[in-house]
Amino acid sequence: MKLWGGRFTKEENQLVHNFNESLSFDQRLYHQDIRGSIAHVTMLAKQGIVTEEDGRVIIDGLKGILADLDAGKLEFTREHEDIHSFVEANLIERVGEAGKRLHTGRSRNDQVALDMKLYCRDEIGEIDALVKDLLRELLCQMEKHIDTYMPGFTHLQKAQPVTLAHHLGAYFEMFSRDRGRLHDIRARLNRCPLGSGALAGTTYPLDRAYTASLLEFDGPTLNSMDSVSDRDYLIELLAALATIAMHLSRFSEEFIIWNTNEYRFVELDDAYSTGSSIMPQKKNPDIAELVRGKTGRVYGALISLLTVMKGLPLAYDKDMQEDKELSFDAIDTVKGCLKLFTGMLATTTFNKAAMEASAKRGFTNATDAADYLVSRGVPFRDAHGMVGQLVLRCIERGVSLDELTLEEFREVSPAFEADVYEAISLKTCVEKRVTDGAPGQEAMRRVIAIYREQLEKE
Ligand code: ARG
Repeated sequence: MKLWGGRFTKEENQLVHNFNESLSFDQRLYHQDIRGSIAHVTMLAKQGIVTEEDGRVIIDGLKGILADLDAGKLEFTREHEDIHSFVEANLIERVGEAGKRLHTGRSRNDQVALDMKLYCRDEIGEIDALVKDLLRELLCQMEKHIDTYMPGFTHLQKAQPVTLAHHLGAYFEMFSRDRGRLHDIRARLNRCPLGSGALAGTTYPLDRAYTASLLEFDGPTLNSMDSVSDRDYLIELLAALATIAMHLSRFSEEFIIWNTNEYRFVELDDAYSTGSSIMPQKKNPDIAELVRGKTGRVYGALISLLTVMKGLPLAYDKDMQEDKELSFDAIDTVKGCLKLFTGMLATTTFNKAAMEASAKRGFTNATDAADYLVSRGVPFRDAHGMVGQLVLRCIERGVSLDELTLEEFREVSPAFEADVYEAISLKTCVEKRVTDGAPGQEAMRRVIAIYREQLEKE
């Protein structure tokens, strides 16, 4: 049955139906769709637009459809165009005449806008909880690795020593900002479009504020044309998801590097790695690679929707139906990545000794050696040159700075004394850095306490 068959004389062509329909993918909105209809009809009854009795019959019918769908007793049959038509047709089949009054003062245009907003709101809640799980796991690892020294890199070249806690803390910051973005989007989208009709509102005395409050919105939207054609909240959500995916992808890349034979900073749990069908020695970081790889389709969703929207005149255009599959895919993908990544992080063993040894080998204490000279009155530019000479000597001999004898240090500058070894030890290099945001334990403990509180608060 077609909702709009009245003015048509020809049967719809099957190809056209298949091209036009959205039920095959928007069926996942049935909870939101029915919830919206219950709120709408509750308002219609309160306003006397439908009778109390019809209102009750419709609500019971809708609840029955919901229960049957939840229980798998009702199938999404292909003849219906979309979830809205499906629910309405089913209602009429169940409750008869009263069911035909549900769509009073409503259009599928404001209905679909509502469904997608409700869906985004629900999903934002779930994604936020998953990011929070990841943050919790990160914080646990940070607490364990406050004195696990490792090289910090710039240009993927060893730069200065940091700790694993500090390195992980950078990701804590990124994922915290991701949560902030999700919260902002939720707050901004939280206006109810229902009652906007097809585009120009309706002539019925709807109480839009009441419907909005039933659905836990902050109030109704204020322009009916914008209400039915706004997809900004989806674009913002996709941008936030793209950013989460980008963060996960960077983190995955680090795991992949850390898992190489050359680094061996991490031992991935067997459950999160796979072997090779031909090379018996292999333990591949497939999960991290897939998380990195899936970032592409999340970016794709954002670019696709921006492109769909860029030429659309007001108000609703059918192009907008294209917002669904790509958004659903991006949401599912990011949720999956978050779950898998958190599991991988929780089960990874960090190789403390390999990290420390690597930090020692890369002259990550060269800046501190120069700073040592500065503290003894040598101008920084000269100190930089002197330590550069020492590094060159070390490279020629295949040793690290702290393996040079005091005589060798003093050949370059007499300002070096026996306490230089203490001053350039890995521990000192890190532990002297205690300003806000730095890797020294004293600073990290303060930051970790702030993060703990932050996580417990929300
Ligand atoms: N399936 C449509 C969509 O997803 C619902 C709105 C249809 N409205 C219309 N006038 N054809 O956008």
